[in-house]
Amino acid sequence: MKLITFLATLLLSQLIVANPEKLLSDNPRYFIIPNEALAALQQQAAPYIKMKGPWLSLVALNPTQANKLSYLVHELYNKCGGFLDIQNKLDQGLTPEQALSWAHYQARSKRIRNNLPQTPQYPQHVELLYKNLNSQRTLAYLQELVSFPDRYSRGEGGVKTTQFLAQRAKELSMKFNRPDVSITIIPTGSWYKQDSVLVRIPGKNSSLAGVLIGGHMDTYNNQKPGADDDGSGTVSVQELLTGVLQSGLKFNRDIYFAYYAAEEQGLHGSARMVEEFQKRKVALRGVMQFDMTGFKSPKDKFDMYLINDYVDQNLNAFLKKLIDAYVKVSVGLTKCGYACSDHASWHNADYPSSFPFEASFENDNKTIHSGNDKIELLNLNHMMNFVKLGAAFIVELGEPISN
Ligand code: BES
Ligand code: ZN
Repeated sequence: MKLITFLATLLLSQLIVANPEKLLSDNPRYFIIPNEALAALQQQAAPYIKMKGPWLSLVALNPTQANKLSYLVHELYNKCGGFLDIQNKLDQGLTPEQALSWAHYQARSKRIRNNLPQTPQYPQHVELLYKNLNSQRTLAYLQELVSFPDRYSRGEGGVKTTQFLAQRAKELSMKFNRPDVSITIIPTGSWYKQDSVLVRIPGKNSSLAGVLIGGHMDTYNNQKPGADDDGSGTVSVQELLTGVLQSGLKFNRDIYFAYYAAEEQGLHGSARMVEEFQKRKVALRGVMQFDMTGFKSPKDKFDMYLINDYVDQNLNAFLKKLIDAYVKVSVGLTKCGYACSDHASWHNADYPSSFPFEASFENDNKTIHSGNDKIELLNLNHMMNFVKLGAAFIVELGEPISN
């Protein structure tokens, strides 16, 4: 059964009713975590280490332990834990050794043969979409999002965020008279209350590989506001969905907009969504991740950066062309050094994935995961450059058609 039929079978009315009463499981799950983060915490973490590799380790953690470890890494070393939930690999029958060597292997970037256009081909359509983007609306979206008490994936705030984003997508599709747009809730499983949202604008030819842009909607914990991480990315996706619907543009290929749940807990929501695409054999010719698009560092040499690990090199080269042709700002490369966001979930499943980022990794926004990750530190113009890149990505890969 193809995704299209699957989506059709799920009615929005039933989707919007996410289950706030969902009972959370406390069973341990397996995670991959960089040795660096773990070594620093040998004492507290030692009991949970199952296997240590050259630079990654396999650990088994229950939710409380995962929270604690992540919190300690932050408090003591002021960096992120870099957890990658790998339970599904073990469930699929991989041994711990195999899972660990798989994780080491994935850190390389790939070159997926994907038949990307050599040069940008639709400048007029891109311009039309640009006319339908609006920075003040984007800012209003962000203010709206950070006014939530929090967007934590294990709490009520997370559930409300899912409902809100799904409802808003439904309203937009009605406002612009697009009954063909479908909105699906993708369940995240028993560790998290929050589920992901997938919006699909069907193309003329749904059997062709589609295009997907996403960002994670959850905050690190119940500390608001998560303006940059990842309010910025979430509203960049929301603005693109709005702009595309308002423009009236139609495409040859399916365009997907994803709001991922529980990224901060180990890329959990995106991993489940990727499984859904794989199960239904839905191909994608390009995936773009928006996670932190609003902070501009005065120390940086370039305007925009492309994350260069857990991504597809060919897609990155294509993005460089889009930035030169349409966004017209300077662009550099940078690395996270670990599976730092949802682009890695797609990459790990061999989808061509990319992750344009606000700054070089060294100079990124240091307030994330704290109560100080506020709108005031963000640069709206900078954020709109990412929205513009996303717009060019949708048009050039989605192939516009006349109505
Ligand atoms: N937005 C961050 C990732 C990030 C931080 C990228 C700084 C580049 C610079 C993301 O939400 C995050 O915190 N990721 C976790 C890893 C995830 C697998 C739990 C991290 O970085 O520890
Ligand atoms: Zn984060």
